[in-house]
Amino acid sequence: MDRLVPPYIERLVAYVPGKPVEELERELGIKNAVKLASNENPMGASPKVLAAIAELGPTLGRYPDAAAFALREALAAHHDVPMDEIVVGNGSNELIDMACRTFVGPGDHAVIGNPSFVCYRLGLLAANVDFTEVTLRDNLSWDIDAMLAAVRPETRLLFLANPNNPTGAHVSATELARLLRELPERVVAVIDEAYLEFADAPDFASALTMRALHERLLVLRTFSKAYGIAALRVGYGIGTRPIVDFLNRVRAPFNTNSLAQIAARAALEDQAHVERYVALNRTERARVSAELTTLGYVVAPSQANFVLVDFAAPGKDVYEKLLRKGVIVRPLPPPLTNWLRITIGLPEENTRLLAAVRDLA
Ligand SMILES: Cc1ncc(COP(=O)(O)O)c(C=O)c1O
Repeated sequence: MDRLVPPYIERLVAYVPGKPVEELERELGIKNAVKLASNENPMGASPKVLAAIAELGPTLGRYPDAAAFALREALAAHHDVPMDEIVVGNGSNELIDMACRTFVGPGDHAVIGNPSFVCYRLGLLAANVDFTEVTLRDNLSWDIDAMLAAVRPETRLLFLANPNNPTGAHVSATELARLLRELPERVVAVIDEAYLEFADAPDFASALTMRALHERLLVLRTFSKAYGIAALRVGYGIGTRPIVDFLNRVRAPFNTNSLAQIAARAALEDQAHVERYVALNRTERARVSAELTTLGYVVAPSQANFVLVDFAAPGKDVYEKLLRKGVIVRPLPPPLTNWLRITIGLPEENTRLLAAVRDLA
């Protein structure tokens, strides 16, 4: 029979999400499992989000606002940018995919980091776009010189997560500015700031403060992490009008649903909820890192809501052992096969994790 899909689709391996709590509880017949695998907000959504969603019932028969007008208006005010410089996605993941289908095509080339967020790779593979994966310094921190050196005449797209997932490392403001300044004009730089709210290093700065340095800049943000509405899938991008205009042409109609739009607006209004979580994350990230270090493990410095830990043993085995103790963390592909990514949870969840790790020996 003739082929069903082109060869570049045939080679794809689907994204493997963090194991859901319900799945582990079903498999092991246990209760009270703890999920520290997907960098979600352990405090959940703001009560204001829940109230806003409850009001939406009567309008569920209608399509959502395809232009997400009210949400973009709120985001424009929040960031002090014009509304037509904002594009909203079904999670920032959708915007990553859209960037791979909008700014690059056959014969073009992209630059990404490794290890970094796996969806840049998946998006480029699915779009059949050639790309270079630039190895991070010691696999852990961004190498801006190497990113710049990987740019070829055909390069038109570059992805950089700041802070990075799964390492938690950030790029200093000076280095990020240098990247944006030195990147050839034709290249669209996508700076993914999914974990920005958790970054507290004195030399961290958002690429939004550097828009003057590189015209073809798209900054991605999400409501899935600090804002606590991962289930509803809302992310957004801020870029120049042409960047947003072309993304809008590729964007599927009604890509963000009504619940998501109204919840994101309510979440944006409740900055106190975000601040409480960010403060909790800061204290708990320090505690979990210190205790794991005391236990003899290497913990990569993190600017995010997770830590990357070297277990000096196959990560899959440690992952399985922790699963049996009801704690779900995240194993990683090469070159981080001895490392696990652990989301910072509520204090009691982190205490469960630390007890389970102590029990490993
Ligand atoms: C760096 C980074 N970017 C983007 C995303 C996607 O987030 P969402 O699609 O939920 O907005 C994630 C999720 O883990 C991430 O780690």
